[in-house]
Amino acid sequence: MIDPHRVEELLERAVRIRPRAYCPYSGFAVGASVLTDDGRFFEGVNVENAALGPTICAERAAVACAVAAGARKLVACAVVGGPREADPRAIRPCGTCRQVLHELGGGELMVYTVGVAGRSLAELLPQAFDGGSL
Ligand code: THU
Repeated sequence: MIDPHRVEELLERAVRIRPRAYCPYSGFAVGASVLTDDGRFFEGVNVENAALGPTICAERAAVACAVAAGARKLVACAVVGGPREADPRAIRPCGTCRQVLHELGGGELMVYTVGVAGRSLAELLPQAFDGGSL
């Protein structure tokens, strides 16, 4: 089980970074943070693009920062989103981000957002593809 203080900090970091989202097309600002197995935190925001397709979600931005800093195992992710000017709301990672989180955290990785209970990635992405066969 992840220390509740760590979970609190993870959520605070996602909330705090969210105003830096670059979201001129959707107006939907997302902040994310991840916690590594050695206790480090990394944050990310969504980075949109005029061509829409190249948009990077906040969770994947946070994962990229963690990996670039040497992390290879993530234990938790927090994500919050909503209209740019509004207070952060509860959201869950999109399907692509669930797959990316699975790569570095597996099914045990915990996903948190505001106001509702955390969920394991195994619950959010059951029977994930992991490169192997059945
Ligand atoms: N978005 C994220 O950053 N994370 C998600 O898990 C879902 C969606 C972003 C992408 C886009 O910039 C905006 O939210 C609206 O879809």
